[in-house]
Amino acid sequence: MHKVDVLLGLQWGDEGKGKIVDVLAPEYDVIARFQGGPNAGHSLEFNGIKHILHTIPSGIFHKNKINLIGNGVVIDPAVFKKEIDSLQSLGVNAADNLFISQKAHLILPSHRLLDAASEAIKGNTKIGSTLKGIGPAYTDKAGRTGLRVGDITLPGFIEKYSSLKETHRETLRHYGYEDEPEKYEAEWFIGIEKLKEFRLVESEYFINNLLKEKKRILAEGAQGTLLDIDFGSYPYVTSSSTVCAGACTGLGIAPSKTGEVIGIFKAYCTRVGSGPFPTELTDETGDRLREQGREFGSTTGRPRRCGWLDLPALKYSVMINGVTQLMITKADVLTGLEKINICTGYRYDGKVTESLPYDITARVEPVYSEFSGWGKDISAIRSCSDLPPEFNEYISYIENETGVPVTLISLGPDRTAAVFPGKK
Ligand code: GDP
Ligand code: IMO
Ligand code: MG
Repeated sequence: MHKVDVLLGLQWGDEGKGKIVDVLAPEYDVIARFQGGPNAGHSLEFNGIKHILHTIPSGIFHKNKINLIGNGVVIDPAVFKKEIDSLQSLGVNAADNLFISQKAHLILPSHRLLDAASEAIKGNTKIGSTLKGIGPAYTDKAGRTGLRVGDITLPGFIEKYSSLKETHRETLRHYGYEDEPEKYEAEWFIGIEKLKEFRLVESEYFINNLLKEKKRILAEGAQGTLLDIDFGSYPYVTSSSTVCAGACTGLGIAPSKTGEVIGIFKAYCTRVGSGPFPTELTDETGDRLREQGREFGSTTGRPRRCGWLDLPALKYSVMINGVTQLMITKADVLTGLEKINICTGYRYDGKVTESLPYDITARVEPVYSEFSGWGKDISAIRSCSDLPPEFNEYISYIENETGVPVTLISLGPDRTAAVFPGKK
């Protein structure tokens, strides 16, 4: 049967999903984002241009590819317009091949204020949200009070908007938060007009029809499995289903119609925002990874916390998503390190375990296996046979442990920086 392939992050986001989607896009006809919103920042680099996408699928730079924003996504019209304008300045007219689900929810200016107010009140226990209004928008979705893209063309939209805004104002007052949504409204409504220029579709029919026509479809996830609302390090998570199942609910494709599950992971780990991170390095090795890997948030510019690869967490993500192919990014950043660690288990309650403890916030101490590093610069390598033996050993170990083949090795931010093990 013809199926939809799903690509998603296996760690805490920023694994390099945008880059990999851009690399794989020529093999597909359709790229469909299934969840998240402007909290995402997906970087693409080619011909010396670096571009960051937030809401728009990462296939947008490829001509003649259909890009779909699914019902599982939350859209901030103001951010959306900025993205469209910035694509326009690069000569890309997104309206040509971008379709948007009528069932995608809208992020209101007051959602952003609620996000900020809720974080402010949490003090030390704040999530470290991107402050894009994600949590409050999904809260309204689940609470059955949200506004959807399809509403913008219906009579009564302004009234619905105003009524929801007033509810939010009450909550903001309760928080003692001063800012007023009206300050951001003009820009937001300009964004709404921009949205109206696009094809707003019944996306579940749209995508299933494309599937019937045997179009090759890639579902693009945002964030990562360890930020998933159910399986992430709750409450330090995002508010959507970032896992493979999220592609079904976020696009309207049946589980029986999902094909390859492509899991993206970094050769080390990073995390932005708060929450547990067992392998975090707060020493000079952590600083080195941050500098060499340019680990600063694509959306907020915040420095990313860095640490060693966490195999129990990776295996957990492989299990939850049913990953069939692994793709590794940023191995080039490890070049020059004499020794490379991989966490193989956690010491927890005096015992070593390979499973993620429920209360991961409690002190878990990583147990490491040490691997020899490689001195050779691998960033310009374009053929697997040129990879150093130490590097191959490192990859084989991960493949053996996870039981999943590595089918793409990314060696730099550029579109061309990748090798494909096993590909003839
Ligand atoms: P995403 O959110 O998963 O799309 O990832 P981000 O774009 O937020 O962060 C990944 C960062 O690493 C971006 O700056 C990419 O340009 C960069 N990147 C992606 N793959 C590689 C790689 O293999 N090597 C290096 N050095 N950088 C990479
Ligand atoms: P991409 O798609 C990395 C993190 C935030 C915060 C937590 C909740 O680029 O991989 P939210 O704004 O969703 O309420 O924030 O999740 N976060 C991300 N971290 N990459 C992302 O997206 C993220 N989106 C959200 O830093 O810790
Ligand atoms: Mg990112």
